[in-house]
Amino acid sequence: MKFRVGIIGCGNIFPMHAYPVRALENCELAAVCDNKEDRVKARAQEFNCKAYTNYEEMLDRENFDVVHVCTPHYLHPPMVIKALERGCHVLTEKPMSTNYEDAVKMVETADRTGKTLAVIFQNRYNPGSVLAKKILDSGELGKVLGAKLDVTWMRTDEYYSKSDWKGTWDKEGGGVMIDQAIHTFDLLRWLLDSEPEYVDCHLENRTHKLIEVEDEADGVIRFKNGVLASFYTINYYSEDSDVHLQLHCENGKIDIASDTAMISLKDGRKYEAARAPGESFPYGNVKSYWGVSHIKQIGAFYGSLAKGEKPFLDCHDALGTMKMIFGLYDSGRQKKRIML
Ligand SMILES: NC(=O)c1ccc[n+]([C@@H]2O[C@H](COP(=O)([O-])OP(=O)(O)OC[C@H]3O[C@@H](n4cnc5c(N)ncnc54)[C@H](O)[C@@H]3O)[C@@H](O)[C@H]2O)c1
Repeated sequence: MKFRVGIIGCGNIFPMHAYPVRALENCELAAVCDNKEDRVKARAQEFNCKAYTNYEEMLDRENFDVVHVCTPHYLHPPMVIKALERGCHVLTEKPMSTNYEDAVKMVETADRTGKTLAVIFQNRYNPGSVLAKKILDSGELGKVLGAKLDVTWMRTDEYYSKSDWKGTWDKEGGGVMIDQAIHTFDLLRWLLDSEPEYVDCHLENRTHKLIEVEDEADGVIRFKNGVLASFYTINYYSEDSDVHLQLHCENGKIDIASDTAMISLKDGRKYEAARAPGESFPYGNVKSYWGVSHIKQIGAFYGSLAKGEKPFLDCHDALGTMKMIFGLYDSGRQKKRIML
């Protein structure tokens, strides 16, 4: 069987979805949609498929099995819900939404319609993340005692001025935390295999006069398993520095830097996993900090669908990360610790 696929949104992230879909034998990219006509026409021509400028019309007319949502954050809920209600499985880009209530509605719709909703958090598929999870689950490292992460990237005024939705509370839903650092927060929660008990966050816009949202977020997350994790995320650094995530455990440490994991045990053993030498996105020039794991997550998503199974990263799991992120925003705005 071939899945009939549609993609909504032909912006920056579009290639990371469209090329892997085209390369999969069990997929046919049937139509793409963008409200910018020239953009969607060019992509439709490139991928030899139909073009739409109105997603509702596309969903009404096309009989898709699967829809990918690659649009600004505030559009994910209406687009995902409409596609699920039209009987499609959906793979949406992160974050699910700009507020928790909408993310819950998306999960409820998936449950009600019996369709699969999965969310892109591609870094869980990095070899370093996979190795870290495997060793933690094996118990070799013992209990996790502490965790810390930092994401120090550079998003210039030019980056924001080129976008009609980034940097706004209503359309992006936040700044560095919900857009850039969300991947590392998701990895932290997944690796710890625990949900937050409370969050305590400080939000600041220190350098970006053009935008409403934070360009710095720092604070702590206390997990139900007792781990107190601290974080520091900014997007006014002088470069896109390697993301760091460290888990300090009874019998050693996990250090993730970018997509490489180094695991050192107190008895001297060391393990390392990194991207394969020379591995890159094979379909052209895309941003290096997106990594190379979209292909892996998209392949795994279709593999699960073909077997009639729920994908590993479905919306119920992703909702946990969204709850943590929106809890952090509530804490930052109210300037107090929030119990989750
Ligand atoms: N996983 C990752 O590493 C990663 C990296 C970059 C972006 N993203 C995510 O991908 C999504 C899109 O980001 P982007 O950088 O590609 O943004 P973008 O602004 O480059 O692209 C969004 C596209 O959606 C189109 N659009 C807007 N309103 C529409 C509508 N009503 N109907 C149809 N199309 C519409 C725009 O014209 C634009 O082409 C976001 O959720 C973002 O967070 C994820």
